[in-house]
Amino acid sequence: MAKTHPYTVPGLTLEEGQGLNDALQSRLNAMNDLHLTLKHAHWNVVGRNFIAVHEMLDPQIDLVRGFADEIAERIATLGGSPVGVPGRSEYQHSDHVYGVDRASTQHHLKELAEVYDRVIASHREAIELSGEVDPITEDILIGQSKELEKFQWFVRAHLEDSAGEIPG
Ligand SMILES: [Fe+2]
Repeated sequence: MAKTHPYTVPGLTLEEGQGLNDALQSRLNAMNDLHLTLKHAHWNVVGRNFIAVHEMLDPQIDLVRGFADEIAERIATLGGSPVGVPGRSEYQHSDHVYGVDRASTQHHLKELAEVYDRVIASHREAIELSGEVDPITEDILIGQSKELEKFQWFVRAHLEDSAGEIPG
């Protein structure tokens, strides 16, 4: 458990403010992992539409990196200590390991669409949890989810054929 401090934001009890630490730390880990995963795809993607996919990913990476910063600073604001160091017990990676290396755009995009499925679903769970305690934290996560869902649309739109279907 990361260190906490004897204060939180006004209007919340210590238990309420710091009770969000674990949920926020898990979202911080997810954003750190996602930013690295997107870079991995950016480096390894090849084939048709290479430049479109390669270049589409960089703005996503920059924004997701910013999301990690925003979450970490919210943890600190609430009186906790964000952990950003790989290898620490608080920094638990997702169970899913991105297994695609040098591969086609379609292959990477399919895998990335699944990564976004998991990340967005977990963000929504954290929205629900924080909404019961702190609307400011909830608002941060809602704003991030809106962008993550838009990114998933970008990824899926590359996978669709001219009939709007995603081939299996
Ligand atoms: Fe690059």
